[in-house]
Amino acid sequence: MSDWQKTGWRAKPRVQMPDYMDAGALAEVEARLGSYPPLVFAGEARRLKRELGAAARGEAFLLQGGDCAESFAEFSADNIRDTFKVMLQMAMVLTYGAKVPVVKVGRMAGQFAKPRSAPTEVKNGVELPSYRGDIVNELEFSETARRPSPDKMLRAYTQAAATLNLLRAFSTGGFADIHHVHSWTLGFAEGVDAERYRDMANRIQDTIDFMAAAGLTAQTNHELSQVDFYTSHEALLLEYEEALTRIDSTSGQWLAGSGHMIWIGDRTRQPDGAHVEFASGVQNPIGLKCGPTTTAEDLKILMTKLNPTNEDGRLTLIARFGAGSVGDHLPRLLKTVKEEGANVLWSCDPMHGNTIKSSTGYKTRPFESVLREVREFFQVHGAEGTVPGGVHFEMTGQDVTECTGGVRAVSDEDLSDRYHTACDPRLNASQALELAFLVAEELSARRASAMSAAVG
Ligand code: PEP
Ligand code: CO
Repeated sequence: MSDWQKTGWRAKPRVQMPDYMDAGALAEVEARLGSYPPLVFAGEARRLKRELGAAARGEAFLLQGGDCAESFAEFSADNIRDTFKVMLQMAMVLTYGAKVPVVKVGRMAGQFAKPRSAPTEVKNGVELPSYRGDIVNELEFSETARRPSPDKMLRAYTQAAATLNLLRAFSTGGFADIHHVHSWTLGFAEGVDAERYRDMANRIQDTIDFMAAAGLTAQTNHELSQVDFYTSHEALLLEYEEALTRIDSTSGQWLAGSGHMIWIGDRTRQPDGAHVEFASGVQNPIGLKCGPTTTAEDLKILMTKLNPTNEDGRLTLIARFGAGSVGDHLPRLLKTVKEEGANVLWSCDPMHGNTIKSSTGYKTRPFESVLREVREFFQVHGAEGTVPGGVHFEMTGQDVTECTGGVRAVSDEDLSDRYHTACDPRLNASQALELAFLVAEELSARRASAMSAAVG
């Protein structure tokens, strides 16, 4: 039995966390949260871990996506439904391309706290703390709004619980029926001038028709009417995480009860820091962002700390190098993983290395760069003989204009139309689905070359 304690992170250097001024108020909130039920059950986290283990071997594929930051203002059934709906559409297209099950993990029901590039923001000569997500403070630029308030953790918990409740209802209540999902996708493919998407959508339709003729329908097979959907977020605000961390009575191990999977961000992955210490002791699947500054040395230490027993599905390395840079960094980290004999799942986040300022002043991400990073990720894995096991996107089901490009082209000038994000620019529903089609093409090309290698 390890001597890990859920409070152990408190003795380690911490970054990107707020300084709460009122220690009494903070302690009260922590005690209250500590008495509330966890949001997820350990058995679910273990099942997800098994599925991620399969993805690491190429026997499944991870689709992780959702908001950059969930917000209190945008909390509504429609928002949750629309993001869930696009995830299902993407998953269906990816399943078709990869011919393996797609593991669906939302950046939802807990994705509130944000790391920032600077601790303060200056506007018109006034300096205030940076906005760190609705669980910490408020976006509005005023002294009161920017003051971190522990009460917000309770509101985030309530919102996360209600979000998860609706996701569970959608997953099993008929909304996820394969026939509905596909009819939405057909609508998209018909609305764009892109033969290749229509072609793939029609082939999926053929498959569904064939299955129905063979007697496989949603009425006879639950697999066609239900899905497993998991939640994830960056475990950044450790007071919140600690309060929801509990011993799982089945295994006697600790579980972060705030979501099924948690990840460590690019800015908080110091091997001796608080965030790594926290994640090391909970049994959930853990994600670790790997960026251009991730050294081989650090990665070795991190893999040992986060997955000492080299367990399948425990550790997902989320590569976020930026288009044009994957070839400079991924091969050296793949080499480290190989030298260590480490068991990891590689996933590609083509968002966080591709943020630029548009000519109109908005923070944006060109769809072209997002796509290029995904392609480079697949190319490097193809060349090294390793498994590209998943993708990680910031997206929304809403028709926003935050990233430029895509078949329904969004231009620099269009960005001001529906730019709603409080944080990073997200793919809109159409861009997200288009990306899924393109990833599906990569996956099916990979299958074809693996099969011809086996035959040849
Ligand atoms: C994020 O995923 O929202 C994020 C901040 O990513 P990264 O830590 O990779 O910059
Ligand atoms: Co982000």
